[in-house]
Order: sequence, then structure tokens, then C-alpha cells
Amino acid sequence: MVLAVPGSITGLIGVFDSGVGGLSVWREIVRALPHEDTIYLADQVNVPYGPRGETEIRGYCDGIARYLLNRGCKALVVACNTASAAALKHLRESLPHVPTIGMEPAVKPAAAVTRSGVVGILATPATFQGRLFQATAGRHAAGIRLVNQVCCGLAEHIEAGELDGPDTDAMLRGFLAPIIEAGADTIVLACSHYPFLIEPIRRIVGPDVAVIDPAPAIARHLTTVLAHHHLQGDGPRQGEHVFVTSGDPARFASALRRLAGVTGPVEAVNWQAGSLEGNSPVPAPNPQQS
Ligand code: DGL
Repeated sequence: MVLAVPGSITGLIGVFDSGVGGLSVWREIVRALPHEDTIYLADQVNVPYGPRGETEIRGYCDGIARYLLNRGCKALVVACNTASAAALKHLRESLPHVPTIGMEPAVKPAAAVTRSGVVGILATPATFQGRLFQATAGRHAAGIRLVNQVCCGLAEHIEAGELDGPDTDAMLRGFLAPIIEAGADTIVLACSHYPFLIEPIRRIVGPDVAVIDPAPAIARHLTTVLAHHHLQGDGPRQGEHVFVTSGDPARFASALRRLAGVTGPVEAVNWQAGSLEGNSPVPAPNPQQS
């Protein structure tokens, strides 16, 4: 099935995630492409995606992609490993004219830097179950031992703003212990929420273990893809940014301030029979990265 592509696919870069995690990718996109306008959509009414099935997640991604294209997006970034695992191939097939970038666990860069030959991967259940992970591991992890750690509940902690404190610390120690015991010297953050915990993770694993946040590489890849399709925004104007959530806009606004250093309006959207319905566009101020 090819989804209907609305008339004007020019302008914004659409970035989406189940929640606030994709902001770790969004902030790198804005850093790399400061002249681009963006729209960030958090499907917080359905967060977490991690324990959900492929068909359900794919349905959400279809609805979000349709909504973002209706808002005038020229390219989409699936800033969520879980959604990429469930729906990236499907989105590319159903929207062949829209450059769509997704996230696969950064096994390739990890395999390039590991000296011990043991790499820990932190991700959600759906990411490990998806064919994308199997394919990525099959392609890039020959001769490498991957220690796959499902981090149940961790994205929910980050959604709740619990970035430090004893509960999060205990949870992280539990997830990281088998990886360290296995002799890993490299850890891949394969969920876009987890870079917001990179400091406590580094504290726990120590300076001899490399922790890979794939977000800068995603932003670089987007830059290349936009150039390839002649879709770069016009400089020198600063990009404008719109934020939308299917959850509570006030809650998202405070996470946006805390995680990305951005103060701006947040729009609300609602799911109606598989489609997102919302308010008219309200541009937010330019981001002030903290
Ligand atoms: N941010 C999502 C990811 O990258 C996961 C969070 C969730 O379970 O919804 O996988």
C-alpha cells in the first residue's frame, strides 16, 4: 500500500519518537543543520513502544508519517530504534518519494572500536525482536560477541524525568552488570531515550568502556541524504521548530526544557481512528541548546 502523499513535501524535517527520547537525535539534527525547520512529534499517549507488537507500532508510525507529511515535511527521521525496527522498511516502501531515515543499533561502529571483541547492546524488547537488529548484527558482528540487554522500564523512567537518583542508578547497575561481567569494552545505546542517561552509565562502567550514542551519526547521515536529494534548507535564516505530543503538552514542555534546553509552545494532537488530529501550526522559538 502506498500512503497518499500530500501536495507540498517541502520545508520541514519531521522527527518522531514514542516520547522524549528522540530529542537526543533532534538536538544533534539542529546542531548539524541549524537552518532547517523541524517538527518533532512525541506519541506519548502510547509510550512505551518497546513492549508492543510490530503491527501495532507500524500502525502508529503510519499515522504519524501521514500527519507529518500533511504538516509539510520534506524528510522523515524515525528517531526511535523500536519504531525503526517495526516500521522503517514499511515506511520506505509506502512512501517511496519521501527520504526516511531510521535508527539501527550501532553495531558497525562498535565492532570497529572494540578491542575485547565483546559489545553490550542496550535496547527495548521490540528492537531485539525486529528483523532490522538481526540483519545489522548478521552484517557487522562477525567475530564479535554481542551481549543483548533488554532494559524493561528504563524509557519510562526517562519519560518521568528520573535521570538520576537511586532508583535509576539501581536499574542501570542491574542492566550493565552482565555486560561488564562478559568483558565488554563497548556499549551501544540502541534506544534514543538512553543518551539522556549517558553520564550515569559512564560513571558505572568507568573510563575504559566506550559508550556509543548514535545521534550525531544520524544527523550526519540526514545531512548527506538531504544534499543527495537537493532538499537542504535556505541559509542564513535560523530554523524554526514545532513540537507536538499526543500526550500532555505541559509535561512535554517541561521535558523539552530539561532535556534540550528549549522553551517553546507544545501542540496537542489526538488519535482518531488511526489518524492524528490536531491544532493549527504554532512555531516555537529557536532552540537555546543548554
Ligand atoms: N525511544 C525508543 C527507542 O529508541 C524506545 C522507547 C519506548 O519503548 O517507547 O527505542
